[in-house]
Amino acid sequence: MATNSGAGTQAHDTNVLNLAAERALRYFREVPGRNVAPSTAAVAALAELHEPFPTLPSDPSEIIAKLDEIGSAATVTTTGGRYFGFVNGGMLSAALAANWLAGAWNQNVALRVMSPIAAELEEVILGWICEALELPADCAGGLVTCATTANFTALVTARQALLERAGWNVTEDGMFGAPPIEVIVGGEAHASILKALSLAGFGRKRVTIVEADSQGRMRADKLPEFSERTIVCIQAGNVNTGAFDPAAEICEAAKKQGAWVHVDGAFGLWARVSPKYEQLTRGFEHADSWATDAHKWPNVGYDSGVVIVRDGAALRASMGIRAAYLEPGSRREPMHHTPDSSRRARGVELWAALKSLGRSGLCALIERTCAHAQRFAHGLREAKFQVLNDVVINQVLVSFGAPEVTRKVIKRIQEDGTCWCGGTVWQGKTAMRISVSSWATTDADVERSLAAMIRIARECRAK
Ligand SMILES: Cc1ncc(COP(=O)(O)O)c(C=O)c1O
Repeated sequence: MATNSGAGTQAHDTNVLNLAAERALRYFREVPGRNVAPSTAAVAALAELHEPFPTLPSDPSEIIAKLDEIGSAATVTTTGGRYFGFVNGGMLSAALAANWLAGAWNQNVALRVMSPIAAELEEVILGWICEALELPADCAGGLVTCATTANFTALVTARQALLERAGWNVTEDGMFGAPPIEVIVGGEAHASILKALSLAGFGRKRVTIVEADSQGRMRADKLPEFSERTIVCIQAGNVNTGAFDPAAEICEAAKKQGAWVHVDGAFGLWARVSPKYEQLTRGFEHADSWATDAHKWPNVGYDSGVVIVRDGAALRASMGIRAAYLEPGSRREPMHHTPDSSRRARGVELWAALKSLGRSGLCALIERTCAHAQRFAHGLREAKFQVLNDVVINQVLVSFGAPEVTRKVIKRIQEDGTCWCGGTVWQGKTAMRISVSSWATTDADVERSLAAMIRIARECRAK
C-alpha cells in the first residue's frame, strides 16, 4: 500500500514514477507490432472508468497500473510508422524525454519570474523557428496549443492593428461600432480559420471567399481589391492536397494597399526548410503573421502550436495583460504573447525536438515523408486507383471508385489495423487521405501499408 495517496505527505513516490516509466517503455517496445486502431473490446472496456467520484484515496501505483491496462489498449498507435490520419505527427524521442523531465519540473511559463528556464527556451526556439522558416528575425511569437489557437491569436492581432490604424482601440472599445474590416479567405481555407474568424467576432458568413483551383489554391486572378482595412488569410499546405496559395502575388498586392496577410501554415510552412520544396513556399515570408504547428511535421508531442507576428507590439497590444501583482519584466514575458496566461512549458519539448533534428534532420524528415507520399501515390496509381491531387508534399488523396466503395475501403482499412487513414470529400469526390507526417515511417511501413490498402480495396471492389 502506498504511503502518499492522501494529502499532507512530503516526498514524491518514486515507485510510481518508475512504474510509469517502465510501462511507457513497454508500450514503446510493443508499438511496432500493435494494430494501429485499438480493438473494439479495448474501447468497450473504457466503460470501466465510469465510477462515482472515489470517496477514499487510491494507491498511485495501482492507478498507473490500471491506466496502463485500460488506457494503453485503447490508444491509437500514432507514435508508430503506420498512422496516416489527419495531419498527426509522431513524437521524437528527444521530445518525449524532455516532456518527462519538464513534467518533473512542472513549470508555469506565464512569467519569466515563474520559470527562467522555460521563458529562456521560448526565446531561443522562436528565434530558431524564424531562422528555419526564413521569417524576419525580429518577429514576436507565442507558443499555443495548436494551429487553431495560433490562427485565432494572429487574427485578433490583425484586427487590433488595423483598427488601431483607423483610430479605434479594440481593447478598450470592443467591436461594436468599430470601423468594418473585410476578411478574405480562399475557397479551400481550413475550417480552423473560419472558427478563428468567428471567435474573433468577424463571423463565418461575412468573409469574402476567393475561388480556389482544382488543388485548393486561391486563384490570384479572382482576388478582390484590398484596402488598409483588409485581412487576407492565405494557406501554406492545404489539409487535403498539400497545395500552397500563390503567396508572392497576394502579398505584393496586399502590401501596396496596406492590407494584413495572415498565413495558415499549420504544416506546410515547414516545407520552407527543404531546398527541394522551398519554391512552393516563396512569398510567404512577406506576410504579417503566421500560424503553424510543431506537433505536425516537426514531430513534437501534443500540444504544440506556434504563432509568429511581424509587428511584436501589435501582438502584445492584443495579448498583453496587466495587474498589480504581475510585475512587468524587462525582457520578453510569455503571457503577453498568447491568449492564455498560466500554461505548461511546451517550449521544452520543442527545443529538444528541434535541437535533436537540427536543420539537416528537419529537412531530411520533410523530404523523407514527401518521398513516402510519392511512393503511396505511385503504388496506388499502378494498382489502377485514382489519385485525385498533385502530390506536391506529404498529402495523398485517393478514390477507390464510387463514394460508398471508398467509404467502405476506409472503414475496412481502419478495422484491419495495418495502418490508419481517414476520409474526406475533395471538391465533391469522396476520397481517402494519406498524410505522411511521422519521423517513424519507414520504407517497410509504406510497403506494408500500401499492400494492405490495395488488398482491401480489391476485396471491396470484388464484392
Ligand atoms: C492547414 C491547417 N490549418 C489548421 C489546422 C488545425 O490544426 P490544429 O488541429 O493543430 O488546431 C490544420 C490541421 O490539420 C491544418 O491542416
